[in-house]
Amino acid sequence: MEERLTSILSSYKANRDELIPILQQVQEEFGYLPQQAMLDIAQFIGVPESQVYAVATFYAQFRFTPIGRTHVTVCRGTACHVRGAPRILEEVERQLGIKEGETTPDLEYSLETVACIGCCGLSPCIVVNAKVEAKMTPRKVAAIFAKGDETS
Ligand code: FES
Repeated sequence: MEERLTSILSSYKANRDELIPILQQVQEEFGYLPQQAMLDIAQFIGVPESQVYAVATFYAQFRFTPIGRTHVTVCRGTACHVRGAPRILEEVERQLGIKEGETTPDLEYSLETVACIGCCGLSPCIVVNAKVEAKMTPRKVAAIFAKGDETS
């Protein structure tokens, strides 16, 4: 990790206003913000670690635990909600054995919800590794993850 982080930091000038772009790039590289990286970033820009955490926790885009190889996002926006998103989320949680915001211990799946993914006409939707799955039903959810089991 050290080398990858050093390479990222080397393109910055260690200004405090670079904190958010640095955090974004580190998360892009590692999929989350590892604790050691937070420490190194704090040292690099010369602020207390608590300040880096304060900024990172303020923004919902940052995560502090690793993301699974398969990232599942369930839309809980209004259009999806009225068409059954709560049942979809329940079924995804049941299939994966994790709750929203969690990652499976084998790092295979992580699950989160979002307010709207911009495909309201296809609601209820979920996104599996950037692929939108439209007009979901609990049965379709089960089929998607059963398929995943066969191929793994
Ligand atoms: S509310 Fe789900 S896609 Fe817009």
